[in-house]
This record gives sequence, structure tokens and C-alpha cells, in this order.
Amino acid sequence: MITTADSDGPAGFACQAFAPLSLDPPLVLFCPQNGSDTWRRIHATGIFCVNILASDQRDVSRLFGTRGADRFAALDWTPAPSGAPVLAGALTWAECAVEAVHPGGDHVVVIGRVTTLGPCRDTAPLLFHRSRYTTVTPTSPYEPPEVVDTLLSWPRHTDWI
Ligand SMILES: Cc1cc2nc3c(=O)[nH]c(=O)nc-3n(C[C@H](O)[C@H](O)[C@H](O)COP(=O)(O)O)c2cc1C
Repeated sequence: MITTADSDGPAGFACQAFAPLSLDPPLVLFCPQNGSDTWRRIHATGIFCVNILASDQRDVSRLFGTRGADRFAALDWTPAPSGAPVLAGALTWAECAVEAVHPGGDHVVVIGRVTTLGPCRDTAPLLFHRSRYTTVTPTSPYEPPEVVDTLLSWPRHTDWI
């Protein structure tokens, strides 16, 4: 979920098109539709918060993917330092400042610089695959983690990647 907040209150939408982009500087990207109301508001505020949902949050994803729904009416959230909502129960979150915007057909590619990283819950992420919600199959805790050189420069690479 990508969120922001302005004088009209909190805003946010379900967004699958998200990826980490750069480690130094720390950049991420997401791709909203040109007509996205939340994107219009993020463009104005210049800030957004990426909330990575946990596997038990499919209802939150449905709510944030439904046009016209009052998405924050019955949802617990706290403001990140910039004021953008951190959703209760999220696996982790990253607050970002908009760094660049590029056209991408009927979407735009929004690049954000990470300004604050939230803690990471010890649980599985929510995934969306073939029009269904799913999650990852746990691997054995005895299997050693992969060691990939470029990831080691990220101080907390086990959080997301
Ligand atoms: C699982 C899921 C993934 C989605 N991914 C995207 C996405 O990557 N980009 C996008 O623009 N909309 C995506 N959507 C659709 C938007 O969440 C939906 O159109 C929403 O109503 C937009 O709200 P807004 O107009 O307030 O921004 C997704 C919806 C769901 C349920």
C-alpha cells in the first residue's frame, strides 16, 4: 500500500507495481495509473509511505484496491515522521520523498528516496499472483541465507530482499 497525507487527511491505494531500485542512494519505485487519486495527492505533497503488507492483511489490500471506499474509516494507523500513514500490522514500511517522475504509458514511474525505514515484523508477506492472494512457502530455518555481495552494502538487507 502506498500512502500519503495532506490537509484533506490520509490517502492510500493498493499497488503491486513496486520495487527497490538503488542501495546508494536508497531509492524505490512504484507505478500508479495516470488517473490515480492517491497519486495526484502524492504528487502535491511530495511524500509517500510504502507499506509492505503481511500475509494476514488481504482485507486491507482489498479495501485499498476498491475505488471510492473510505479506506481509513476503520483502520488503525500512525503517522510516519512526514505524516504519511503507517498501517497497523504492516510487515515493514519505508517513508520516501518523491525524487523523479517518468512517463510510462497509462501509468507513471515514480522514484522515491527512502528517508525512514520502519521495523520488520517476523512474519510472511502478502503476495498477489494469478488474481489470488497467496504467500511464500517457508524455507527451513536451518538453511543458510544466500550471500550476495551487492545486498551486503544495504545495512538491513534481510528486511526486504
Ligand atoms: C493487489 C492489487 C494490486 C494493485 N496494483 C496496482 C498498481 O500497481 N498500480 C495501480 O495504479 N493500481 C493498482 N491497483 C489498483 C488500485 O489500487 C485501484 O485502482 C485503486 O482504486 C486506486 O485508488 P486511487 O484512485 O485512490 O489511487 C492494484 C489493486 C490491487 C487489489
